[in-house]
Amino acid sequence: MAQLWGGRFTKETDRMVYEFNASIQFDKRLFHQDIEGSIAHVIMLSKQGILTSAERDDIIKGLTGIRDDVDRGDLEIGPEYEDIHSFVEAKLISRIGEAGKKLHTGRSRNDQVALDMKLYTRLQVLKTDDLLKSLLEVILHTMEENLETYMPGFTHLQKAQPTTLAHHYGAYFEMFKRDRLRMKDIYCRMNYCPLGAGALAGTTYPLDRSYTSSLMGFEGPTLNSMDSVADRDYLIEFLAALSTVMMHLSRFCEEIILWNSNEYQFVELDDAYSTGSSIMPQKKNPDIAELVRGKTGRVYGALVSLLTTMKGLPLAYNKDMQEDKEVSFDAMDTVQNCLILFTGMLKTMRFKKDRMEKSAVNGFSNATDAADYLVNKGVPFRDAHAVIGRLVLYCIDKDTSIDALSLEELQAISDRFEPDFYEAVSLKTCVEKRLTIGAPGPEAMKKVIEVNQKYLQEDRIDILPDNVILNPQKQ
Ligand code: ARG
Repeated sequence: MAQLWGGRFTKETDRMVYEFNASIQFDKRLFHQDIEGSIAHVIMLSKQGILTSAERDDIIKGLTGIRDDVDRGDLEIGPEYEDIHSFVEAKLISRIGEAGKKLHTGRSRNDQVALDMKLYTRLQVLKTDDLLKSLLEVILHTMEENLETYMPGFTHLQKAQPTTLAHHYGAYFEMFKRDRLRMKDIYCRMNYCPLGAGALAGTTYPLDRSYTSSLMGFEGPTLNSMDSVADRDYLIEFLAALSTVMMHLSRFCEEIILWNSNEYQFVELDDAYSTGSSIMPQKKNPDIAELVRGKTGRVYGALVSLLTTMKGLPLAYNKDMQEDKEVSFDAMDTVQNCLILFTGMLKTMRFKKDRMEKSAVNGFSNATDAADYLVNKGVPFRDAHAVIGRLVLYCIDKDTSIDALSLEELQAISDRFEPDFYEAVSLKTCVEKRLTIGAPGPEAMKKVIEVNQKYLQEDRIDILPDNVILNPQKQ
């Protein structure tokens, strides 16, 4: 057992208590953040005259040595340490001696862990944003190529009106674009540095908190030391945004599962992204889509778990907050893996365009346009609706589609039908005429695609300025 305290204790900690309390198994993930935060801290301490520059240099050398050894695999972060902070400090002291004991001057593990977790989360926000961007690029590419790939649009999972693949994918583009906006928003709101808050009430040392915060690319220091050590709002916001990403992925997966079914046959999944059945040789299962849909639950779970952990906590730090880590790490990993796999699956999926178009023709998805045709011939909409309703019944009875009826059959129901009816209700016309912005008409879609192309080129989170000592890639 290696712990940072013990002076006031006369007995060894019970083994099970020690293990229950320890967090090293999961907070070792914060290793780089802990090192970098400590480096920023000692640079500031020496600038303020609290440490000599020789002590500063010794500590930094010790810390970077520990970091490099761990990165190379020469030093193991063993389970005998209580947490990552204890590991780093103990190693530092054993390597450089007296100066190492000064690292923790003007700092508590409460502000230290708040900083580490913030640095780590900030990096995950950027990574998630990058993955969302890659997904958007794949979606936009499919949109560009499929302006006239017709398919049925659904309401209540019933064929409703014809649309295009570009339009259908465009809906998902908007969803994931909003997800990216949430990343940006969270990044801006969270980017304030808690280091220097101490245990809860600041310190009596003349720390320069603005300086440390600028060293690590924060906008500035947090403004209340109790809030600094007690705040996990940014994590909750991130988990909420990740839950929304999963909800979007899950809806998309659900559609792909339907499209891949024998009944739809709209798509064919690449062999690399599907699996077979051990008993039924004909099967090609959409496991990746099902798994992504299935993993949504654990990400929602992380959000509810952390909200519940935080809800009854008095100010300021409480050990309950150690529970923020495992669920959050799991959610972050899950979403990143899901985004990578989903994007790969989408990129390699093939469309059976004939089937999609046939399905749009067969489902009376042009019935609204047929009614509009009669309106243009002077029939009031309500009457037109009734006439087309009768026409649909007739087609169901004869197992045919509206545009396959002869003019005589049409005119037997209403004398307003003329030969121009066929063009008016063709899929092409139905879609082409829908030109309001946001609608599937190719001319309208082209404008939207242009806006989105520009957006993908320009929009990014303004990451760390150049003067930052931390390498965000290393975090
Ligand atoms: N392992 C702790 C956590 O994750 C670090 C902070 C410990 N602070 C303390 N006062 N015991 O929250």
